[in-house]
Amino acid sequence: MRKAFIAGNWKMNTDASGGAALAKGIAEATDGIAGESVDVAFFPPFVYLQSVVSAVSSSSIGIGGQDIYFEEKGAFTGEISAAMLKDVGCVYALCGHSERRHVIGESDELVNKKVLASISGGLMPILCVGELIEERKAEKTEEVVERQVRAGLKDVSAEKMAAVTVAYEPVWAIGTGLTATPDQAQEVHAFIRNLLADMYDAKLAEEVRIQYGGSAKADNAAELMGQKDIDGLLVGGASLKVEDFAAIIKAAV
Ligand code: 13P
Repeated sequence: MRKAFIAGNWKMNTDASGGAALAKGIAEATDGIAGESVDVAFFPPFVYLQSVVSAVSSSSIGIGGQDIYFEEKGAFTGEISAAMLKDVGCVYALCGHSERRHVIGESDELVNKKVLASISGGLMPILCVGELIEERKAEKTEEVVERQVRAGLKDVSAEKMAAVTVAYEPVWAIGTGLTATPDQAQEVHAFIRNLLADMYDAKLAEEVRIQYGGSAKADNAAELMGQKDIDGLLVGGASLKVEDFAAIIKAAV
């Protein structure tokens, strides 16, 4: 039985005091649930990681970096290593978010290096995949998702897959209010699980958690998570308000 996993990606939002208050507010509103019956994570901007880690220190909520660099240290201006994320109390790292792929221009190869660096650095990566609207219209969803999953997990052994979550985030549903229907999302989630069975084996595929992301909200969370292969949500906009995100976490129980 896969445990539900709800993650809030704050993107480039909040400020020092607002971020800490948001984190504390959600931890209080979901006391006894978050980290116990459902895994919960926040992904604040790098500069607020430490204060958010402190704000939730009495809860079981996990904190992660919105990105990570694959090198261990050195002359990589602006980048953040796995060791740095761990040092400030992170347990997760987002790898290959669609905004990193399509706004910043990250390749599948770079995303794969980030996944590998996260795992070897003791962090749990969330590998994000998803098609653009043109790709869906051209019926290339499965082709794109398969390429991103196979490339993103290249050289990740079956043993190391225990640390990995996959997030399916159709790019056309992110921040648009256009949520994939539960059927549309389930179809791709089942495709990803079958793909994992092909890449590894059926038992491993049954154990990997696959989150859905893209305009997930309190009023569609339960229906999305009611689908057989949807094990949680990666939430953007609706993770920025205590009531909204707490309601999503409660919908997972
Ligand atoms: P929204 O929930 O704002 O659509 O963002 C989804 C997302 O990109 C989470 O990583």
